[in-house]
Amino acid sequence: MEMMDTLLLSRIQFAANISFHILFPTITIALGWVLVFFKWRFARTGDSVWMEAYFFWVKVFALSFAMGVVSGITMSFQFGTNWPGFAIIFNPSMPYRLVHVLLASGLTVGFLIAGISALRWVMGDRGAEVRKTLRLGAIMGAALIPVQIYAGDMHGLNTLEYQPAKVAAMEGNWETQGNVPLLLFALPDEEARMNRFEIGIPNGASLILTHRADGEVPGLNDFVAEDGTVLHPPVNAVFWSFRVMVGTGMAMLLLSWAALFFMRRGRGIEGLPRPVLWAFLPMAFSGWLATLAGWYTTEIGRQPWLVTGVLSTDAAVGDVPPALVASTLIAYLVIYAALLVAYVSVLVYLARRKAKGTHPTEAGRPVSGAIQSIPAE
Ligand code: HEM
Repeated sequence: MEMMDTLLLSRIQFAANISFHILFPTITIALGWVLVFFKWRFARTGDSVWMEAYFFWVKVFALSFAMGVVSGITMSFQFGTNWPGFAIIFNPSMPYRLVHVLLASGLTVGFLIAGISALRWVMGDRGAEVRKTLRLGAIMGAALIPVQIYAGDMHGLNTLEYQPAKVAAMEGNWETQGNVPLLLFALPDEEARMNRFEIGIPNGASLILTHRADGEVPGLNDFVAEDGTVLHPPVNAVFWSFRVMVGTGMAMLLLSWAALFFMRRGRGIEGLPRPVLWAFLPMAFSGWLATLAGWYTTEIGRQPWLVTGVLSTDAAVGDVPPALVASTLIAYLVIYAALLVAYVSVLVYLARRKAKGTHPTEAGRPVSGAIQSIPAE
């Protein structure tokens, strides 16, 4: 029992640490390239607006980088104390994961840039810089999301081959069978081993996973040992995390394409209907949401295994007393919550300061205030 508690608490602590840490590399990986792009555009055009964008976003980069480094340090401690049996392993899904996660970073940054720029815009900052960055964010989103959906689909086929129990949980499919629907909604009942309130697209899951309407999809009931031991992951957590990731991806598709459509047809940002412009605000952190949901699908989805069929999670956990794991977990959660609030507040503060045009000069050069740069109409 004691070991079980340590296992569960260590898993929650692992999830808390990695969830917090991953937020920041997800931003810096792609934002670094966006900064290179700003400088390149400035070198090509000599338009100082690109440097203005650079100076704004380099602050976000610096802040995110610092947060990433600091949160990464606690992560390595926690690996050593709680998971002595853990080993990092290359596996057949690694190329799919790499592509999917790099695209996730691009999308996170695209929507962050568009979201913060939309916030500045609604606060009255209508300068050339904010126009360029809002457009850039929307274009990044619109260009990357179809590739991400395709990459996600390929990733799913690979998972079907190597971790079929995870796919069965993602699809909420209990029996191995053909003509499996794509469930848009259901409440998996893990006690009764069935779904309640299913709403699905007939044959959808079979079509996506096997490219045939009657294609066979593995069922969760195949992963129960004769003595009743459940060898598949918790169904609800995986089923719902997967839907949050895919649902967020669909919202990204809808919003970025709608924005591009209206910007082309209309007059740039002014052509955006209010709901489309405002929708970018809550979507500023949509990349984080999809990334965390995707990561939960992956990590909860491989339970009860650390390495499927080879190393079980309980075999890798250390023997730290549960009370100790619980107390460090609480400390982590409090600090992470405070840091997260501080990080988001700084971003909003930077946007507001810029929108008010009260920022000091950058490196001694004057920066055009937002109010001055509203074009005379
Ligand atoms: C919309 C269509 C999408 C599909 C079909 C899809 C599909 C998948 C699949 C099948 C997995 C892997 C489960 C596994 O085998 O471990 C996964 C994981 C993941 N997804 Fe998605 N995904 C989509 C959208 C997104 C979006 C929009 C993001 C982020 C912006 C995202 C971020 C992730 C992340 C970070 C992981 C975990 C990867 C890992 O840790 O190895 N996904 N996705």
